[in-house]
Amino acid sequence: MRDTRGPSGRVSEITVVLCQLFGPGASCRPLGTGNARPGPLRPGTLLGVNGEPHAGETKVVLSGIQPTGAVHLGNYLGALRWWVDFQDRYDAFYCVVDLHALTVPGDPAELSQATFNMATLLMAAGLDPGRCTLFVQSHVHEHAELAWLLECTATMGELSRMTQFKDKSGKDGEESARLGLFAYPVLMAADILLYQADLVPVGDDQRQHLELTRDLAQRWNSRYGTTFKVPDAAIPPPGGGARIMDLQDPVHKMSKSAASGAGLISLFDDPKLIERKVKRAVTDLDPPGPGAVRWDPEAKPGVSNLLELLAALRGGRPAEIAAGYESYGRLKSDATDAVLEMVVPLQERYRALARDPAAIRSVLAQGAARAGEVAAKTMGAARSALGLLPR
Ligand code: TYM
Repeated sequence: MRDTRGPSGRVSEITVVLCQLFGPGASCRPLGTGNARPGPLRPGTLLGVNGEPHAGETKVVLSGIQPTGAVHLGNYLGALRWWVDFQDRYDAFYCVVDLHALTVPGDPAELSQATFNMATLLMAAGLDPGRCTLFVQSHVHEHAELAWLLECTATMGELSRMTQFKDKSGKDGEESARLGLFAYPVLMAADILLYQADLVPVGDDQRQHLELTRDLAQRWNSRYGTTFKVPDAAIPPPGGGARIMDLQDPVHKMSKSAASGAGLISLFDDPKLIERKVKRAVTDLDPPGPGAVRWDPEAKPGVSNLLELLAALRGGRPAEIAAGYESYGRLKSDATDAVLEMVVPLQERYRALARDPAAIRSVLAQGAARAGEVAAKTMGAARSALGLLPR
């Protein structure tokens, strides 16, 4: 059983999945209990924590993705496709978090190109600058500035409990880990709080960081007066792609930092390579036959992961999809087709967009201008709440 305790050691409050937010492919209740699909929502509909619509207000959504490492199927299913979906319903801010990439060693010569490529990829995945604000984190200096103020609100204790710091600093030891890696979740909190975000669409691995963000906002608001909105995480429910697993090691999530690339499907992989990777996906040791293809993430993590992929890409619930298969071979070939149906057109759009870098630069400049206006407003309120002398 995974530990869902948050940084404060208590059970996370944000295990509340905002069911109504997730449409095709996502099941809201525990699997097997039936699930009414939400109806279409008007753009700008404000949803309460239980998903009930209110009239007249527009909720704010913010999320981010790191530019470095291979952008993979987990990123797409757990986050990016929801970003695209949410841009029509909310005032959506999405950023390429290049400052976060500095927390681990990297080549400066590659960072700016990777940042640019990620922005292009996000547009190829369906982000439309006419319907959302797309920008680069370091173009809005308030992110780093608010992070410092929040670092003076966060404690060493709560940051020490962050599992991602333990995982990422693990190999070389904490002694040589960068201070920025330790403080990383505070920068992420700044990203979110600057925009007074109501909702943060992320995969399941960001749950603990979201709880920290909520804790920091609440602590600040009670210490210095209400300055920040306390955001909710919008994490897809089981079957919705919140935690896509490594194809070779299906008890661990698909991750940019995996030891081998064989378990990761990059959105830039050649279709033939994708086919090979899915064909070679680990599907446990049971012999095939009746009942071998079933949704059972504990006992059959490899098969369940392929079912999750299919459910997330084509809709439906993994347990029900399983009933249509007797052999691993057909499951794998359908999973391959489902991935290619998404990836091939995305790669074509990417190539088309990449032909006009000036257009991407202009989108990012406009995005930074709009994001900067909102960020400056919150930053002003934060400075004055702390009693910093106005210039
Ligand atoms: P990053 O860049 O590692 O991942 C981007 C998004 O992809 C999701 N994700 C997954 N979802 C399902 N299955 C997987 N195997 C999988 N792997 C990754 C992540 O949950 C994430 O939503 N700290 C963040 C970036 C960030 C951010 C923010 C996010 C910085 N500031 C503010 C939201 C709001 C990160 O490293 O994501």
